[in-house]
Amino acid sequence: MGIDHLAGAKSWLLTTSRSAYALGVDGEGNLQHLYWGEKLPRLEDYPLPALPAPYSFESPQGLANLEYPGWGGLIFAEPCLKALYADFTRDVVLKYEGFQVFEAGEVAGALRPAELVVQLRDEPYRLAVDLHYRVYEEENLIERFAVVENQGEQAVQLEIVHSAAWYVPRAASYRLSYLVGKWAGETQLTRAQVVVGKILLESRRGSTSHQANPWFALDPGDSEEERGPVWFGALGWSGNWKFCVEQTPYGQVRVTGGVNDFDFSWRLEPGESFRTPPFYGGYSGAGFGAASRALHRFQRNRLLPRPAAGRPRPVLYNSWEATAFEVSEAGQIALAEKAAAIGVELFVLDDGWFGARSSDRAGLGDWTVNQQKFPRGLQPLIHKVNELGMDFGLWVEPEMVNPASDLYRSHPEWVYRFPARPGTLSRNQLVLNLAIDEVREYLFASLSRLLEENRIAYLKWDHNRHFSEPGWPGGPPQRQREIWVRHVLGFYELVERLRSRFPQTIFESCSGGGGRVDLGVLQRMDQCWPSDNTDALDRLGIHHGYSQVYCARTMVAWVTDSPNFATRRALPLEFRFHSAMTGVLGIGGNLNRWSEEELQVARRLVTLYKQIRPLVQDGDQYRLAEPGQADFSAVQYLAPDASAAVVFAFLRTEGPASGEARIFPRGLSPERLYRLSTSGRARRGAALMKQGIRLRLSGGFRSQVILLRWAERPSAFEGNAPR
Ligand code: GLA
Repeated sequence: MGIDHLAGAKSWLLTTSRSAYALGVDGEGNLQHLYWGEKLPRLEDYPLPALPAPYSFESPQGLANLEYPGWGGLIFAEPCLKALYADFTRDVVLKYEGFQVFEAGEVAGALRPAELVVQLRDEPYRLAVDLHYRVYEEENLIERFAVVENQGEQAVQLEIVHSAAWYVPRAASYRLSYLVGKWAGETQLTRAQVVVGKILLESRRGSTSHQANPWFALDPGDSEEERGPVWFGALGWSGNWKFCVEQTPYGQVRVTGGVNDFDFSWRLEPGESFRTPPFYGGYSGAGFGAASRALHRFQRNRLLPRPAAGRPRPVLYNSWEATAFEVSEAGQIALAEKAAAIGVELFVLDDGWFGARSSDRAGLGDWTVNQQKFPRGLQPLIHKVNELGMDFGLWVEPEMVNPASDLYRSHPEWVYRFPARPGTLSRNQLVLNLAIDEVREYLFASLSRLLEENRIAYLKWDHNRHFSEPGWPGGPPQRQREIWVRHVLGFYELVERLRSRFPQTIFESCSGGGGRVDLGVLQRMDQCWPSDNTDALDRLGIHHGYSQVYCARTMVAWVTDSPNFATRRALPLEFRFHSAMTGVLGIGGNLNRWSEEELQVARRLVTLYKQIRPLVQDGDQYRLAEPGQADFSAVQYLAPDASAAVVFAFLRTEGPASGEARIFPRGLSPERLYRLSTSGRARRGAALMKQGIRLRLSGGFRSQVILLRWAERPSAFEGNAPR
């Protein structure tokens, strides 16, 4: 496993536990993609680079699968790189220059994966392109990114600079799986046939967006949840992004992706370099489930910020749906007392606590406590919350400003705008220009002050509008189109600086729900708010899409009031809990209105959640039955040693489940006996997986939690599970 040479020094094989990826240099110095898929028995079984024969109107280079095509010569593929040189030459010709291999090992306490760097170069202009390949063997993933360096003497303008092009084997047809959505309806799993031509998935909105999420999967069209080949990839970037899925008439199928080149350009002065965001890719020979589990494991083992990565995510209460902007010390304390009584561990004060914030019309930008609502500051509330045994958390939206704020009145020049245009408001706010150093300094200072003066264990970092008039008045003229990237880098830098100063603080990414969920955010933040839609039934579909890419320990879900504020749908309290318990459990209802009986149910289910939390948050996820396919859906989380599992099943109709509703657990040890929490019976793993477990679901929107654990000896994993 790791990195090997194929015959000849200029071809490489990258192998993970379950896949292989090969690339090599052809006789003309082009870096070609050779292979991606199932591991083959021997090195000599992999193809070596060769130049295809030319064809009318096509060149050998254009017919080859180039790993990182520049726009130049007769190459008409979607390019990874396009540049404008000082002499107005507008193409890029990349040829092989050299390579480096770094063995896997420990560096400064962290496990470094094996890495191959292939160096390409456009010689006359001395533009160097280093292609990085990091091989995560156990997680079955490859991380790719490029570093473009101007080693010449004159500035270069980059017009397209993608992270990678991925190729699947030539075949007549593929099916694309991707995630689309909208506010309150994010991460909807969608599938479409790939045909000759291009499919464009993208965001031009300044952030990741609710409308599409930077993930793709390709399969022959008949792969299933646990069967068949699936090639997949996800981008670690939280700004404008683009995936171009392209099939040529010659059966080449590639996905080129990275920072969106729309309205983008980046100036490289001599000596400067540009590093693209990481693009993670993988091959699963065992369906979509194994593909997701590889991504999940990678997030848990490698990506999520340390040291919090492995710690249990606390059960939180958030007052937003209960109180909106009407927050006060007494009101929050009343809710905090109820929250503590049902077992909540983290109490979060949402919007409305700062500046002149009595609605969404004012206050953003002024990160000081509102004196009318909290005349004694936040301290007494925090003190009370801590006394009740909970941590305290707070909502902020640092990148935004309301025109009605002290910040905007003193710095109207700190927002993106075009000189002769009025700034378009969205939710009554404008976006702060994070390309400006002073803006980032102001935000770092205000947030640091807040975190220093108050015991804040968690920040919910919101982002409630998309970009418009993306101008940078006063900024360097040639760098105007850099704001799309500079904003994201500024946001990352801010979070990283705050994290290193306050390493114990948990960060949650929110953008009017799930508008900024991606692997770039998850490298820097612990968890995400997938949607403002808290309807427990709608959430099953949103979670299903979310789980294709992102792991359960990042997926926050609240139990809110019934009927739901947005959908007006009434659902049983247990159903609402079970739906939220498939991720990081939160409560968001108005507890003042919950009956004593409801509070008791809540207490019981919060206790159950804490017992199964290691399975949900650290286990492997199996989607047993997809929401929307049958009248019930089910999802399972399995301990890494298979010693315990928890299954959640949901009936989505108002009647009984039709026929013999059965779920078939997966990944159990076939020889072991498992005891079921529902019947108390012990059954062998193999029998459970083959014969299934009959669900007892009838009546309107019923749900069930079934715990399975080794009968002979307790699982170390599930802790003190209920008998
Ligand atoms: C966004 C978030 C909500 C809430 C509000 C507050 O819409 O998604 O959860 O925090 O902002 O204004």
